[in-house]
Amino acid sequence: MIEKSPLQEFAGQTALVTGGGSGIGRAIAVRYAAGGGNVVVLGRRIEPLQETARLAQELGVRTDVVTCDVRDAAAVTAAVDGVVAKFGAIDALVNNAAGNFICAAEDLSPNGWKAVVDIVLNGTFYGTRAAGRHMLAAGRGAILSVIASYAWTGHPGTVHSAAAKGGVLAMTRTLAAEWGSRGVRVNCVSPGPTETEGAGAALWPTDEDRARVLASVPAARFTTPEEVAESAVFLLDPRRAAYITGDVLSVDGGQWLGKAVYSDSAAGERK
Ligand code: COA
Repeated sequence: MIEKSPLQEFAGQTALVTGGGSGIGRAIAVRYAAGGGNVVVLGRRIEPLQETARLAQELGVRTDVVTCDVRDAAAVTAAVDGVVAKFGAIDALVNNAAGNFICAAEDLSPNGWKAVVDIVLNGTFYGTRAAGRHMLAAGRGAILSVIASYAWTGHPGTVHSAAAKGGVLAMTRTLAAEWGSRGVRVNCVSPGPTETEGAGAALWPTDEDRARVLASVPAARFTTPEEVAESAVFLLDPRRAAYITGDVLSVDGGQWLGKAVYSDSAAGERK
């Protein structure tokens, strides 16, 4: 079990984490709870959400679960309003819910495109708009969206997800500028290949795929949801990250830089 953070940086605060039933979303929710914050997790299936809530409760915080699809704007707005009604405020929103699959662009159906863009881009906007209204009224709050480096580098087979996450990045920068003077910070975290069931099944289903992904990471390893969560909560921390907004923190072992190869034969001898 994760231990309580000595900082207790989120004591008395409340976060809503979308896609909080598994993977990175669960790890962020639990790490926020370790910092003393109450957490509400939102997703489509109740059982995984309840398990996240149980893990957070073990850390002594209050929790709630909300089942809804982030594609449903009215339901997302109601979920955000419900957090404020029950906990008194929404201090942090983590837009983590996502959907992804690899598909050649020329084979992607309009419905496949729409499913991913609706979840990733539209869903993020619905939650951000709803939470942002409360945060602006309170004069404080932090919004964090989980993206991926292909939002700015591009990556074959992910035209839907790359377009959507690129949109989330543009949204983040726009809102950082729009809301910055009113106490609301908006940032992104960009994880590299992370060991989660969802990502593994969708993005590197075979050993060959895994090896290819691994070869693209200078740090030569996958990361864990817990490692990503440490950076995510840093950006949510109202004290340590108070002056950070409109930015992206890559937690990807250097993957987005590309893995350029050092040439031993071309290197001169040290004199
Ligand atoms: N390749 C090509 N098209 C695919 C696909 C795949 N692997 N998976 C789904 N689609 C298409 C479907 O064919 C459908 O289009 P169509 O009506 O033209 O046939 C469209 O996407 C919607 O699929 P559906 O399963 O009805 O959507 P959904 O709303 O239930 O699911 C997804 C949304 C597609 C994003 C689904 O992958 C999902 O829910 N994923 C969540 C988990 C996840 O993606 N985790 C990975 C994290 S990295």
